Amino acid sequence: SAVPAGARQLEGRTVVVTAGGTREPLDPVRFLGNRSSGKQGIAIARAALEAGAAVRFVAAHMDEPAPEGVEVTRAGSALELQHAVLEAARGADALVMAAAVADFRPADYTDAKIKKTDDGDAPTIRLVRNPDILAELVAAREAGGPDGAGLPPIIAGFAAETGDGDSSVLDYGRRKLERKGCELLVVNEVGVDRTFGQDTNDATILFRDGSEPVPTAGSKDDVARAVVDAIVRVGNR
Ligand code: CTP
Ligand code: CA
Repeated sequence: SAVPAGARQLEGRTVVVTAGGTREPLDPVRFLGNRSSGKQGIAIARAALEAGAAVRFVAAHMDEPAPEGVEVTRAGSALELQHAVLEAARGADALVMAAAVADFRPADYTDAKIKKTDDGDAPTIRLVRNPDILAELVAAREAGGPDGAGLPPIIAGFAAETGDGDSSVLDYGRRKLERKGCELLVVNEVGVDRTFGQDTNDATILFRDGSEPVPTAGSKDDVARAVVDAIVRVGNR
């Protein structure tokens, strides 16, 4: 069923949105980062506000300021973001994980700046896996008990995928949705100059309950409104 335009369908609801890219510290002045601009998360937050929701906004590194009217928590690294999301998500009605969370972080952090040596050698940076924040939240919710108490019934993920000879972008998206167990997954096709830092976006929203996928296109605001509409519809089912 279509959601009437301009309806304040999330009045009285709380939505948590994560946005931007995490920065994984290497030493006091350096990090491993990614090209996420934060724009899609900002657009989601604005669309949720327009729909009448209270928005808790967990911001990693972004190119733009957080929107007005949201409650902001800053998070630098993936581990900080995980902590902030857990705090923000308790008691919320929906969580949208638009942040680009680094899959790996440097295994060792040194309090002293890494220096060059006279022998001309370069250091090797060893990486370790970061927790999958989204998958762990879903798992905690499904397990129930005190750790799962109050976690949002609707959790949405974002996936940037490239297709290849074996599988299409949507095949990969479908598999990722199953793996993560969240209620919806917004799948973007990416390539050089696509999606990251751009103002427009083509995406398909996939649903865990088997509902028909929803294609969206247009500005990041258009995609954001489609995601908010999808959240409203999942909540009403
Ligand atoms: N995500 C997360 N924690 C991570 C990595 C990703 O919560 N450590 C979330 C992202 O915020 C996004 C979703 O999971 O909403 C999908 O991210 P993506 O990078 O596409 O998924 P990965 O499981 O990391 O798979 P890939 O190996 O393809 O990067
Ligand atoms: Ca990843």
